[in-house]
Amino acid sequence: MSENKAPLSPERILSTLTTRWLGREVHWQARIGSTNDEAMRLAEAGCPEGTLVIAEEQLAGRGRAGRRWVAPAGAGLLFSVVLRPALPPAHAYYLTMIAGLAVASAVERETGLTTDLKWPNDVLVRGKKVAGILTEAVFQGEALSYAVVGIGVNVNADPAQLVEAGRAYREQDPTLAKMGLTASSLSAELGEPLPRLPVLAGILRQLEEYYEGVRAGHSPLPAWRARLVGMGEEVELLTPAGGIVGTAVDLTSDGALVVELPGGERRIFHAGQLTLRTHPR
Ligand code: BTN
Repeated sequence: MSENKAPLSPERILSTLTTRWLGREVHWQARIGSTNDEAMRLAEAGCPEGTLVIAEEQLAGRGRAGRRWVAPAGAGLLFSVVLRPALPPAHAYYLTMIAGLAVASAVERETGLTTDLKWPNDVLVRGKKVAGILTEAVFQGEALSYAVVGIGVNVNADPAQLVEAGRAYREQDPTLAKMGLTASSLSAELGEPLPRLPVLAGILRQLEEYYEGVRAGHSPLPAWRARLVGMGEEVELLTPAGGIVGTAVDLTSDGALVVELPGGERRIFHAGQLTLRTHPR
């Protein structure tokens, strides 16, 4: 079996990681429902901060807004980490920001590809989505009790499979079908397959570093904003309440998007599916 396809066993992961504490407790499964669900279960049961749940295949992988995350078995990275930050609820979104930054910088280091981030949680290469992040936080009163940061990276997936997967869901969810058509993988953008383990180790290393910055009181907003595409551009935003068209003019300190509508009114959005109208992606 080639190195690129070899399963990511806990032994292989632990011998490659260069983190101090993140990912040092590994729960690996060949097949799982959703790594986020399993990480939530472990967090609830009191697992240590930094626990990593990783699988080769998800049968019920979840994306944002109740969507599916579809990925061919063994072709990508599907993992979740448990964090227990002392953050106010308004800053919970920092975790998605640092996960995006970690994926973007690790992918650049490992592949030489240039990455961008798209609000609120996509990692792009040449305008196509190669990774997504799903952060789920549990609060106790006004305090964050724990959070699970789930990351899916299309490493060696064939984009045709991703398009096909998107098509299979077109009827249930037209947005997902469209996402399938604008998705890609690192190997497709690079022109050759690549081993997954260094990408995983790089992401966890970067995430640990960014997370320690947040714990020390630093906002990741400036670094995140510097990598975001679409600021100042005309955008279309799909929200559960409907769609709007306007200009993405700003971000709030907690990462919400400020959109100026054609009449000049500014509205703040905490979630939604963003399309850039100048370069649709
Ligand atoms: C999105 O782009 O909508 C977020 C996708 C997040 C997918 C990852 S894969 C690992 C983890 N487990 C899940 O069920 N979802 C996240």
